[in-house]
Amino acid sequence: MTSGRFSVTLMMGAPGAGKGTQAVFACEALGVPHVATGDLLRDHQRHGTVLGTTARVYMDRGDLVPDDLVMGMLIERLQQSDAANGALLDGFPRTLSQARALDDGLGAHGGGVRAVVYLDVPTDVLVRRLSGRRACANCEGTFNVDLQHLPADGSCPACGDQLVHRRDDEPSVVAHRVQVYLQETAPVLEYYREKRLVREVDGSRPVDEIKSGVLQALKQAAPP
Ligand code: AP5
Repeated sequence: MTSGRFSVTLMMGAPGAGKGTQAVFACEALGVPHVATGDLLRDHQRHGTVLGTTARVYMDRGDLVPDDLVMGMLIERLQQSDAANGALLDGFPRTLSQARALDDGLGAHGGGVRAVVYLDVPTDVLVRRLSGRRACANCEGTFNVDLQHLPADGSCPACGDQLVHRRDDEPSVVAHRVQVYLQETAPVLEYYREKRLVREVDGSRPVDEIKSGVLQALKQAAPP
């Protein structure tokens, strides 16, 4: 039995699998905030914090940011008032040591991971999606040149700010991120499979079809 703030749902998948895209629908259905460690780290970069400056070095080359830095940041985020009824974690945990630390931290408060939604996407699709991704640093919207007609001047269709192609979406960095995922994060999926928490969704389909699969998977999960 898991409870409130300390009950979380995980969205897992390789870089570009569509975690951020589907997290929006999952959060709406669950009524919890979307807590994405990648977004939190990019926020720190924008604000020029020490954490952001340190993290940039790792992120730009597609490596993971050290566990202790990410853990501290995540705990701080989960203590905010909007996470009183739990949260959807996107991009965390990414290593076995993060997974164990999360279990210990949540378990100490009578909580835990209630479900893991895994978006399964072949590597060639990941690379194509990331090369077409454009992101807005202002409103944090994520778009894709292959999915949407974006303004020719590169402005964000949601807020008008400038869209960017993330540095770590360059093909050579993407290839490294996928390797890091296979080496460090795939074992985390096995860890949760052994706990029978993983609901697998075919993430190679159109966004709306995946959304239905994700919502179905959430319904099958234990209640919060
Ligand atoms: P992070 O930002 O978490 O990157 P990621 O996991 O690599 O995932 P992405 O954000 O790239 O992809 P996504 O799965 O969310 O896909 P999206 O929905 O955008 O992490 C970045 C870095 O931060 C890491 O490399 C690491 O350095 C650091 N970091 C973060 N967490 C950490 C942790 N816990 N520990 C240590 N370091 C950490 O979709 C991708 C594109 O495809 C978009 O353009 C989208 O519009 C499009 N798309 C989505 N769905 C579809 C579809 N069905 N069909 C066609 N296109 C689609």
